[in-house]
Amino acid sequence: MIIAVVNQKGGAGKTTLALNLAAASAAQGKRVLLIDADPQQTAQDWAAIRTEPPPFQVIGLTKPVLHRDLPAMAADYDMTIIDGAPRSYEATRSAIGAADVVLIPVQPSGADFWASRETVNLVRAAGEAKGGQRAAFIVSRKIGRSVLSREINEALAEFGLPILAAGTTQRVIYAEAMTAGETVIEQQPDGLAAAEIRAILTELEGMKE
Ligand SMILES: Nc1ncnc2c1ncn2[C@@H]1O[C@H](COP(=O)(O)OP(=O)(O)OP(=O)(O)O)[C@@H](O)[C@H]1O
Ligand SMILES: [Mg+2]
Repeated sequence: MIIAVVNQKGGAGKTTLALNLAAASAAQGKRVLLIDADPQQTAQDWAAIRTEPPPFQVIGLTKPVLHRDLPAMAADYDMTIIDGAPRSYEATRSAIGAADVVLIPVQPSGADFWASRETVNLVRAAGEAKGGQRAAFIVSRKIGRSVLSREINEALAEFGLPILAAGTTQRVIYAEAMTAGETVIEQQPDGLAAAEIRAILTELEGMKE
């Protein structure tokens, strides 16, 4: 299964989701590949500061060749997760082209919602070209049951893509774990953050055709 985590909007939560989903999948005994498609190399920096090797393979691949090359690479793994690049049309399109399931993280704010439009259009075009592709929004950094959360769900619904029931909540452990070269799965496997990541993974696995 290949999951692309994409949004051309910077800071949407792509890397946080990609690393934690990869860790959650690896913790279930799966062979996991994480493709860092971002020229900022955040996932590779994360891997480099660790003392232990990551529980999954991390490979940087920033040229827009994923749609062409990833199927062969991913064949050796149970799960492949692409950490998409911000602000790049070509890289985002290539990642979408390689994926079985496309996950679009959006923070619950108008700015993030509006800036996701171009990515949504790319996902739609790819879906039409492929004759149907699974894609969904995920709300990242939810803050309680605010009016904002409800409004963002209504606004996202207008794009005509499903919204995952699961999402990430605003929790400092996400930033702390990333900064330490770890994941919430490693830091607090029985914590609330790890549980929400596992819920996202379960929902995604149910989306594959
Ligand atoms: N659920 C969360 N709770 C708290 N902080 C979060 C959460 N999700 C992401 N963050 C923080 O938000 C910032 C942006 O997240 P992240 O790096 O995952 O976004 P991104 O989409 O990969 O960014 P870029 O577009 O630059 O690659 C980071 O500092 C991260 O630690
Ligand atoms: Mg990132």
